Amino acid sequence: MNLYSIILVCVFGSFHFSMGENCPTEGIAYLPHSKCSHFYICLNGESAEMVCPFSLYYNPETTQCDFPEIVSGCSGGTRPPITSTEIPTTTTELPPGTLTECGQSIFADNGTIQYKLNENYDAGELCVFMIQFESGFLNTTFTLENHGFGDLDSEAIAVYKCDGELGLPTRLGSHTQKANLTGASGAIVIFRTTSSSGTGFKLSFKRNAIQSPEMRPGSYVVFNNETYSPLNIPLSNDTHAFVQNHLVFTSDSKIISEPDTFLKLSVTGFGNAGDETSSILMVYSFETGLKFERNIQWPSDDGKVFEFKTRGLFILVHLQFETLPIETGMVTWEKVSTQKAFL
Ligand SMILES: *[C@@H]1O[C@H](CO)[C@@H](O)[C@H](O)[C@H]1NC(C)=O
Ligand SMILES: *[C@@H]1O[C@H](CO)[C@@H](O)[C@H](O)[C@H]1NC(C)=O
Ligand SMILES: *[C@@H]1O[C@H](CO)[C@@H](O)[C@H](O)[C@H]1NC(C)=O
Ligand SMILES: *[C@@H]1O[C@H](CO)[C@@H](O)[C@H](O)[C@H]1NC(C)=O
Ligand SMILES: *[C@@H]1O[C@H](CO)[C@@H](O)[C@H](O)[C@H]1NC(C)=O
Repeated sequence: MNLYSIILVCVFGSFHFSMGENCPTEGIAYLPHSKCSHFYICLNGESAEMVCPFSLYYNPETTQCDFPEIVSGCSGGTRPPITSTEIPTTTTELPPGTLTECGQSIFADNGTIQYKLNENYDAGELCVFMIQFESGFLNTTFTLENHGFGDLDSEAIAVYKCDGELGLPTRLGSHTQKANLTGASGAIVIFRTTSSSGTGFKLSFKRNAIQSPEMRPGSYVVFNNETYSPLNIPLSNDTHAFVQNHLVFTSDSKIISEPDTFLKLSVTGFGNAGDETSSILMVYSFETGLKFERNIQWPSDDGKVFEFKTRGLFILVHLQFETLPIETGMVTWEKVSTQKAFL
């Protein structure tokens, strides 16, 4: 299946609403932005700026993020202003400022993740949230404001800082309620449970300082099923230098508990015509903690197929340093029920 044939629902957003001049005073509306990859969501007269994932363009005709080629009215990534009579409206409900579902991402400096607060969680949950900071590389504090974690899940949350390679996480739970990230372009938050005797949490994040206002474009996306497999790298014709993509793959936001069953990830490097390395793909798995699997680099890994397996999840960090040559590859993932399915 071609990724670009699928209309993606946009989940990136900075949900700090401000007064929007063109917003209707009631209900929810979507407005185009002068940058084609951006758009506004209006909620009762206030607007929040959003960004499409995968460098897709916002399509005012469908009110979705679409492949740039099929979005009309854009030239060089920008579009002329539109009049307010063209504003389309929809009835989608939105939880403003808060991530509540496993797999959601947000483009914001400040916000909240609230998952199963005061509700029992299940054993073997593996629920991931991603944050891409809006103002560059930040010093940020994560605060676990509320939780009902059971004794077996006393450190159920792991917060990973995004700024290239992934390092050690800060574990949050009964013992530690605050994590300070310094110079991070984003964060990956993993909630993992072993028992069902506990309730969820509320975790807030707040910007303390801007370490560097430099933005790294890129996508922060969680795939909790196989709908988008195979996925082509790069994710779009994104010819920016210093693109950072963070991709997470899980099997239905759960630890795989069936015997001889794994989530299998295959990465194929196609390379490019040249002999320069302009990007790198770092592969990690996570079951109880992070495990570095390997780096895949072009051109040395051209045409090779690498397979990985886990009962947990995979994290792929894709860094593109140069604008050209663009190196390409393909990622596929599936839940497989026997080890014979591996090379
Ligand atoms: C995030 O919170 C900080 C501290 O309150 C504030 O200075 C900043 O304006 C907020 N950032 C955004 C993008 O809302
Ligand atoms: C985290 O950062 C905040 C704001 O800079 C600071 O007040 C606090 O002491 C820091 N906490 C830790 C544990 O370093
Ligand atoms: C961010 O935090 C680091 C480590 O605490 C500190 O050295 C740096 O000065 C902070 N940056 C800003 C802009 O406050
Ligand atoms: C697969 O995940 C996508 C979002 O990543 C979601 O829209 C879709 O409903 C999911 N499909 C199934 C069958 O769960
Ligand atoms: C990327 O751009 C090249 C050259 O303009 C074009 O041939 C190719 O079809 C584009 N690929 C995608 C996925 O848009």
